[in-house]
This record gives sequence, C-alpha cells and structure tokens, in this order.
Amino acid sequence: MTHDTTAAARTAALLSHAPLAYMTGFGNEFATESLPGALPVGQNSPQKCPYGLYAEQLSGTAFTAPRHANRRTWTYRIRPGAMHEPFRRIDHRRLGSAFGDVVAPPDQMRWDPLPLPADPTDFVDGLVTMAGNGAPAAMSGCAIHLYAANRSMKDRYFYDADGELLIVPEQGRLRIATELGHLDVAPTGIAVIPRGVRFAVDLPDGAARGYVCENYGAPFRLPDLGVIGSNGLANPRDFEIPVARYEDREGEFELVAKFMGNLWSARIGHSPLDVVAWHGNYAPYRYDLRRFNVMGSISFDHPDPSIFLVLQSQSNTPGVDAIDFAVFAPRILAMQHTFRPPWFHRNVASEFMGLVQGVYDAKAEGFVPGGASLHNCWTGHGPDATTFEQQSNADLSKPTVIRDTMAFMFETCLPILPTRYALESAQLQHEYYRCWQGLRKHFDPAKP
Ligand SMILES: [Fe+2]
Repeated sequence: MTHDTTAAARTAALLSHAPLAYMTGFGNEFATESLPGALPVGQNSPQKCPYGLYAEQLSGTAFTAPRHANRRTWTYRIRPGAMHEPFRRIDHRRLGSAFGDVVAPPDQMRWDPLPLPADPTDFVDGLVTMAGNGAPAAMSGCAIHLYAANRSMKDRYFYDADGELLIVPEQGRLRIATELGHLDVAPTGIAVIPRGVRFAVDLPDGAARGYVCENYGAPFRLPDLGVIGSNGLANPRDFEIPVARYEDREGEFELVAKFMGNLWSARIGHSPLDVVAWHGNYAPYRYDLRRFNVMGSISFDHPDPSIFLVLQSQSNTPGVDAIDFAVFAPRILAMQHTFRPPWFHRNVASEFMGLVQGVYDAKAEGFVPGGASLHNCWTGHGPDATTFEQQSNADLSKPTVIRDTMAFMFETCLPILPTRYALESAQLQHEYYRCWQGLRKHFDPAKP
C-alpha cells in the first residue's frame, strides 16, 4: 500500500531504490488498492465511492469485444480524467506519423546509435520517429521510435491516444509512474503502456536510451503455441503488473497528449496519477526478456524466426500479424550438418531490428547496441560475408553457445517506411551494403 503526497516523496522513493511490488500474469483480471476498502464490493459504480473517490472506466477494446479479447479497467481516483484545461498543439521536431513524406528506397539500411542529448531532454522530448506504416486515424499500423533522454519528466505527464507503447530500453533504467502504478524497467526488460494510459518517466540512472514500437492496432497478446504445447516462449506468469499507487499532488502541471500524430499540451492543476484503486485487465506491464524460453531445432536447419515471437498484434487476416515482437535471446545451437545462423532470405514482411546488448549472431560487426537496421519487404539480407565464411567452416561437433546477446525485431506485414529524419540522419550507415560485397563465389560445376 503506497501513495505519494508530493513530488519530493516520489523522488525520495525513486532514490531509495526500494523494489516495487507487482502482480503477475498476462491479461489477468487484477484487483489492487492502495487504501483498504477503496475498491467497491460487488459493483463498479456506486452512488458514492469509498474515500470520496470518482469511478472512471478505461475501455481498451470495444464494449462488445468477445470475452477473451475484452480489455477494460475500472479506476477509483481523486479526480476524473476529464479535469484539465483545453489542449493546444505543440511542436516536436522529430516525433510524428509522417511516413511517406519522403520516398522509401528498397536498400538495406542500418543506423549507429542515437547520440545522448547534451541539453536537458526528458523521455517525451527525446523520442525520434524512425519509421512506420499505417496511420493513427485508421487505428492500424505502427510507428517505430528511438529515444535518448537525460532527465526525468518534471511536472509533466503524457498519454498516447494513437497507440500502445512497447518500450525496449538499451541503456539506463526507467521508472515509469503510470496512473495504474509504477514499473521499473532496465535493459533486457520491456514495458508495455496501453493506449491512453497516463504516465511520467523518471530516469534513476541519468541518461537513458532505447526503442519504442507504437502500436496503432490491436493490443499486443501472447501468441498461441500450437504444437509447442502449453509452456514455452514467453510464459504468462513472467509478466508483471504494477499495484495501485497514487499521487495526491496539486500545482501547475502539464498534460501532454499524442493524438493523430501531433503533440498537444494542456494545463492541469493536479497529478493525473491519482488512482487509489483499480480492477480490470487493461493495465501496463513489464517483462524480462531473459525469461524468454527459447525454442529451436535439435536436429538440422535454423527454424523460421517466428519461433522467437514474444508478443503479437494481430491483423484482421488470420495468421498474419500487424506487428510481431521477436527476440533473439541467449541460446545454444547444436544443429548438425547445417548453417547455424539465420540464412539469407527475402521476405514479404518487413523487419526493423535493434540490439540491447552483446552481438547479433548474423552480423560480425557494424550492428551495435543502440543501433538499428531496416530490411523492407523483398530486400535481400542475411549473414554478412565474415559470418558466412566463419559459420560455413565452423566445427559443428561442438555446440555454439550464444551468451552475450539480446537482439530483437519489430516485424510487420506492411512495408516499414522510413521518415525523412531516418534517411537524412548522420547515424545512417551509407556503407552498410558492403558487408555482403565480400561474399566469394564458391560455385564450381566440377565439384558437386
Ligand atoms: Fe530478416
């Protein structure tokens, strides 16, 4: 049971490094209260709520969505979410949904990491849109952002009406204070903030950097496991959901909204993180990618990367995902008479990759933590020349132990259109194509 009465209390709690409490399970019906008896019993909207709280429902899916897909949460809060002044549009140089404002080339693309900012920059200021597809107004597609920040959000709160946010830190921890409770997320962990949920990001380690997939479509879910069975990949019990925690804080604050690709700012006289109790299944969560139970071949050949799927956002076409979030976690490869790393391929899907730590097994160099790559639909890619030569001659009597790695992919069924920023970025590696130019001709018709 926790609450913060002042900003100083929130900062003190942050500095104490006290571990936060969590509930566990993916998409469960949770119930949590930070004052005893704050949750109404047997009903959602009493004439008067306990402690003089307001009841407010957050509906993340259509009211009539089937029960297995229905997501909603009832909050009991000090003031309702409607209570703020009108929004005015504000500028953000590098954030948006303007994909297609520049011609997308079919090249393989790769970027060095974003430099850490020199000026004071919070999480929202530090977002940079690299690519995306679809549109917020169609509630379909996604945007892919990077962030680089060096200070906590101060007297400033944010929500994203355009999409759910999948946050993948690469450097520096984040404490994400949401209206439904607080989450600590460190590199190799991820956090998912549902569409519309209000939050602020504090940086306990100072500078922080990472990746964000903004999902305009259906909320992320755990994939079905098919013949794998009832366990494996990301197990539901490893997803952690915050307990209720509220700020009873008044002052001159800013509520920033992302709506239809634009940023908007409204004055608000209190902290919107004022939910004393809540129940439901529409909530933020975190997950440690090191808990991903990697499946793979134990005979020959590298499987399709769908075996590495952590979360999916489904499209309206059965079997076709709008977004797949896949992770290439530490694992051991023991397949025989085979090329163990990912093979060369061309694909109808489009792939944006990032690296949280270590080395990715298909690239000997150039793809570094904090960097990114984009291989759009039907763009040929695969192991670089160095990796191909090494792995074609590797001793397969011993397993390949891949310890130091954590790469991931946002894969989408639509082409991923880079932004003007991404194409004109100083971090774009114009020489990336050269990593395949050294592939030698081995063909000899006299040697079957
Ligand atoms: Fe690929």
